[in-house]
Amino acid sequence: MNKLAVIGTGYVGLVTGICLASCGHHVTCMDVDESKIDQISRGDLPLFEPGLQELHETCTAAGSLSYTTSPEEAVQDAEAVFIAVGTPPRKDGSADLSYLYAAVHDIAPFIQRNTVLIIKSTVPAGTHADIKDQLDRTTGQSVQVVSNPEFLREGSAVNDFFYGDRIVIGSTDSRAAAFVEHIYESLPGPVLHTDPQTAEMIKYSSNAFLAAKISFINEMASLCEAEGADITIVAAGMGMDKRIGESFLRAGIGYGGSCFPKDTAALLYSAQQKKLPVPLLSSIHEVNRKQPGAFIQKILDRFGSIEGKKAAVLGLTFKPNTDDLRQSPSRDVINLLTSEGAMVIGYDPLISKSRKRIWQIPLAETMEEALTGADLAVICTEWKEIVDFPPDRYPSLMKEANIFDGRNCYAIKQALHLPIYYSSVGRPVYNGL
Ligand code: UDX
Ligand code: UDX
Repeated sequence: MNKLAVIGTGYVGLVTGICLASCGHHVTCMDVDESKIDQISRGDLPLFEPGLQELHETCTAAGSLSYTTSPEEAVQDAEAVFIAVGTPPRKDGSADLSYLYAAVHDIAPFIQRNTVLIIKSTVPAGTHADIKDQLDRTTGQSVQVVSNPEFLREGSAVNDFFYGDRIVIGSTDSRAAAFVEHIYESLPGPVLHTDPQTAEMIKYSSNAFLAAKISFINEMASLCEAEGADITIVAAGMGMDKRIGESFLRAGIGYGGSCFPKDTAALLYSAQQKKLPVPLLSSIHEVNRKQPGAFIQKILDRFGSIEGKKAAVLGLTFKPNTDDLRQSPSRDVINLLTSEGAMVIGYDPLISKSRKRIWQIPLAETMEEALTGADLAVICTEWKEIVDFPPDRYPSLMKEANIFDGRNCYAIKQALHLPIYYSSVGRPVYNGL
């Protein structure tokens, strides 16, 4: 058992802290946001992540997990301090590291001689060295700074923590690296040791590659539409080739969330700063940016104008099983629908539980309520509730069952013989109206 601190209780920090505690460590999670720490201390987690609440309850009851707003309390006895504060994008695409430096500044006075600082936040290559400089200067000692990027997917982050494909440890000091490996010793994932800048690049390159897979399949989807082919079967056929792999080939309205958009932008920015041409990287984002607009065009092609039409938008979060709305493509879809004069009502299996309005549109309490009297339904997130909703129920609820499925939730054969118009991504349109 080690004494650990985690700075930042966002999606990554909270999952990391709670999961480390359930590995048997004693963990103190710290956040500058008092209301967040108050809320967590009352037993109510500020974010939804499957399985997290239960682990939090078990570990707090066992006394292995505590929360504080005090950097001193968190860091003074810690053998290792994980930094997991956000690194959001600036307007120019670069990663805003001000939260990271603020966190380092706050904890510096309490760093002990052997404390290892572990950077979890996603940061541009070379950031570890700047953090080390700052810490060495303010503490008057040589602080071990290790890069240990996270690969947690929201919605399955707890599972990803325990069964990750790899644990990357970037350090120039073999003792610090061995200590970080020891922290994770109960996990089965293979460990890759490397230098810190390589670890930082592994994170960015992985996210850029996954984003590239999505943009690639979305571009193929447009070609499939033009050729009358079916992208889901094309993707399945491609995925049977082990060199390609079947995952991350789901065509749709594009990727969102707090990672892919910001990390591809930050990588692009770094390349531009170094005057390196990276045409492939630039086009990943370009293709993604156009997805919501191309999807709306299908709606406009069907109706001519959607002025005054009632549109039910189903699914608001950037992916299922999370409450995260950051950079969600559904927001672009809603903005485009609204700007074309549609009357939009939203529904999300999780968000509708706690909110009545979002992004200037009303939310329905149920999927049925959203669909009642609607001229068109627009699916933006493949929540299980939406996937399981029988297609034959749309015609009985809607004024006219025009379904635009941005996540290919239904098999085309489910639409056959129903009085619906079903348009999805990269597949033939079915018109049973
Ligand atoms: C993380 C980051 O590690 C990011 O680099 C990665 O790419 C995605 O995941 P996330 O967990 O989504 O970000 O961040 P967020 O939900 O914004 O939470 C960050 C937390 O850090 C907030 O609760 C904030 O209050 C806290 N914080 C910020 C501190 O405790 N101290 C600070 O100085 C700044
Ligand atoms: C991502 C990375 O997967 C994770 O390793 C990293 O640590 C953080 O960033 P996350 O953003 O939480 O995780 O979710 P992810 O499952 O990767 O989905 C991101 C976006 O891509 C979502 O909007 C999703 O809908 C979209 N997506 C994903 C597709 O459009 N098609 C796919 O085939 C897969």
